[in-house]
Amino acid sequence: MQGNFSYHNPTKLYFGDESLNFLKDELKNFGPAVLLNYGSGSVKRNGIYDEVVAILKEAGKTIVENPGVMSNPTLEKLHEGVRIARENNVDWILALGGGSVCDYSKAVAASVFYEGDFWDKFWLRQEQPDEGQKILPVGCILTMAGTGSEMNGGTVITDAEHTFKVGHVFDDRLMPKFSILNPKFTLTVPDEQMKAGIYDIMNHIMEQYFSDFDDNTSDYLSEGLMRSLIVASRIAVKNPQDYEARSNIMWTATWALNTLIGLGKQQDWMVHMIGHSLGAWTHAPHGYCLAAVSMAYYRRALKPGLPKFVRFAKNVWNIQVGGMTDEQIAEAGLQALKCWMQEVGLPLTISEIGATEEMIPGITQGTICYPAGYLDLKGDDITEILLESM
Ligand code: NZQ
Ligand code: ZN
Repeated sequence: MQGNFSYHNPTKLYFGDESLNFLKDELKNFGPAVLLNYGSGSVKRNGIYDEVVAILKEAGKTIVENPGVMSNPTLEKLHEGVRIARENNVDWILALGGGSVCDYSKAVAASVFYEGDFWDKFWLRQEQPDEGQKILPVGCILTMAGTGSEMNGGTVITDAEHTFKVGHVFDDRLMPKFSILNPKFTLTVPDEQMKAGIYDIMNHIMEQYFSDFDDNTSDYLSEGLMRSLIVASRIAVKNPQDYEARSNIMWTATWALNTLIGLGKQQDWMVHMIGHSLGAWTHAPHGYCLAAVSMAYYRRALKPGLPKFVRFAKNVWNIQVGGMTDEQIAEAGLQALKCWMQEVGLPLTISEIGATEEMIPGITQGTICYPAGYLDLKGDDITEILLESM
C-alpha cells in the first residue's frame, strides 16, 4: 500500500429484507420534524411510502413532504428543498429513493444553514462547509442500487439552465447517519434503470482500479467485487426477481463507492467526468452515459495502463493466457468487458442515448479534465472519444 490515509465511515447500515424494522429504533436519534424527500412517485406505487410514513407517524414525527426529486436532481429543485427545509425548521432529512434522492438530501442538508451562495461554494468552488457550520443529519432508505450514495458524501447536481452537471464529495459530516438497504425494494426498479445501476457499479470499481501499478490490497477487493457483480448481473438480467442476485448487486454497489477500495489509490474518474456532461445534455440514466463512452476511453488507456489491463483480463475475466502477448491478453480483457456489457443490454454508443454530433462541442466543454488514471486528456481528446463513441 502506497500513501498515507485515515479511514472512517460513519454511516450505519441495515441490510436485508427485514431491514426496515430498524427504522423505528433509529428514529429515537433524531428530532421531531423530518423533511421527507422522494422522487416522482415510484415509492407510492410500490407501497414503500405507506410503510415508511406509518412508521414515522407511529413515532410521532411531523412529516414535511418534498416530493418530485427528479432523476439527476437540478439546482432549481435544490433551491426549493432548501427553502422548504428553512420555512419548516426541520430537524433532519429522510431520503426515500435512489441515488438521486440520497444525493439531493445531502445537498439540501449542507446548504440549509449556509447563508451565501451554496451552489458557488460547494459545487463550483468545491469547498467543504466551514468548520462549525450547522448541517442537518440525513438518513436514507434506498430503493435502487447503483450510486453508493447511501454510504458516501457524494452529491451530483445538474444546473439545467447551463446544461452542466457536477458532483461534490462532502466530508464525513454529510455522510448519511444511517442507511436502510432492503433488496426487495429494488425489485420494482424498471429494467433499464437496473441495467444502468449495474454498469454504474462496475464503472465505480474500474475508476478506482485503473490507476497506479503497485500491489495494493484495494485492487484485490475490487477484483472480488467485480466478479460478484458479473455473476449476479448475469442472473438478474435473466430474472430480475431473483432476490439473491439483487441483494448481491445492492451490497456490491455500496462497497464499490464507500471510499474503501479507493484507499491508497490515485483513482481516475474521467469516464464519470465525460458521463456527467453527457447526462446534462441527453438526460439519459447515469450508468448508460458511462457505458456509452467506456469502450473508447479504456481503449485509449490500455497502452499506458498495460500491466493493469493484463491483470484485469486474468483476474476478473479469467482470460486463458497461453501463448498470448500482454497486448493480446489486455485486448481480450476489454473484449470480455464489451461482451458482458452487450449481454446486460447496455448502450455502447452515445447516439443510442440521444446524443448528436451537434452536441459534441457542448459535451466537451462541460467535461472537467485533469490528469487521471493512465491518461492526461484535454478537450480535443474528449471530442475524439465522443466521436469514436457515436
Ligand atoms: O423518481 P422515482 O419515482 O423515485 O423513480 C426512480 C427514477 O425514475 C426510479 N426508481 C428508483 N427506485 C425505484 C424506482 N422505480 C421503481 N421502483 C423502485 N424501487 O428509478 C429512476 C432512477 O432513479 P435515480 O435515483 O435517478 O437513479 P440512481 O440511483 O442511478 O441515481 C442517479 C444519480 O446519482 C448520481 C448520478 O449522477 C445521478 O444524478 N451519482 C451519485 C454518486 C454518489 N453519490 O457518489 C456517484 C454516481 O457516480 C452518480 O454520479
Ligand atoms: Zn457513477
